Amino acid sequence: MTTVQAGSARIIDGSAVAKAIREEVKGEASALAARGVQPGLAVVLVGDDPASAVYVRSKGKACEEAGMRSETIRMPATTTQAELLAVVDRLNADPLTHGILVQMPLPKQIDPQAVILRIDPAKDVDGFHPVNSGKLFSGDLSGFIPCTPLGVRELLLRHGIETQVANAVVIGRSTIVGRPMAALLLLAGKGGDATVTVCHSRTRDLEGHLKKANIVIAAIGRREMITGDMLKPGAVVIDVGMNRVDDPTTKSGTRLYGDVHYPSASAVASWITPVPGGVGPMTIAMLLKNTITAATRVAAR
Ligand code: GUN
Repeated sequence: MTTVQAGSARIIDGSAVAKAIREEVKGEASALAARGVQPGLAVVLVGDDPASAVYVRSKGKACEEAGMRSETIRMPATTTQAELLAVVDRLNADPLTHGILVQMPLPKQIDPQAVILRIDPAKDVDGFHPVNSGKLFSGDLSGFIPCTPLGVRELLLRHGIETQVANAVVIGRSTIVGRPMAALLLLAGKGGDATVTVCHSRTRDLEGHLKKANIVIAAIGRREMITGDMLKPGAVVIDVGMNRVDDPTTKSGTRLYGDVHYPSASAVASWITPVPGGVGPMTIAMLLKNTITAATRVAAR
């Protein structure tokens, strides 16, 4: 990795990459439809969390724009676990549904793990089922990989960012981002072969780890926690943070912040993802890609 001058970080434009992927997906969806299989994604939303409702709406819209079949199932916040499992069973059995996504978080009366375990691993486009996470951790790519880390990998690959000699530090150990991200960076071959360190809330000396990191993936969920002075000059900084904060000066009344303090980090990094417009748009693009993969496997049966 080269050392760069202050203020010279290049921006990784996730919105542009996501747009290109969605165009590719559109072509793949129409090729599958020509073979009699229209890829279909079912999204289940339980309750009325406003942020989840926004995500679910954008997932449905993205599907339709890509020429895919989209079904959104909205269930009340009082839904029981048995009622949700019955919906999952119905979708597992539905030949028009290739991908199933149950939006997290779920209301507290429902055990998310019981729901994840019920989804047919062949339709688990979130990649949360232990069959799929187990495959990823064994280096078997025949399953599904969680969309956000898959999107980060795609951003690194499409910008020619070398992971194979890199020290990569992943901050955060969630099952949605941190853990699968580490597993991806550990895979053998292009986009992998990194030397990976996973830091988390109990890590001592986070800065000591960051100072050696050529690639930093921040998935902590704390606004602007990573500042430029903590980074190795020339590091590639990928910000997975989505911290929404009230801000009456904006039209929506809120403002989105990453886990990285952009002004100071962009002065020392070689590449950086902005928030918004970095990793966020990639998640939906990779969800569409995973749904295409699921439908392709069905078409090949
Ligand atoms: N909630 C926040 N991110 C995700 C995601 O990637 N998948 C699901 N199912 N729920 C989420």
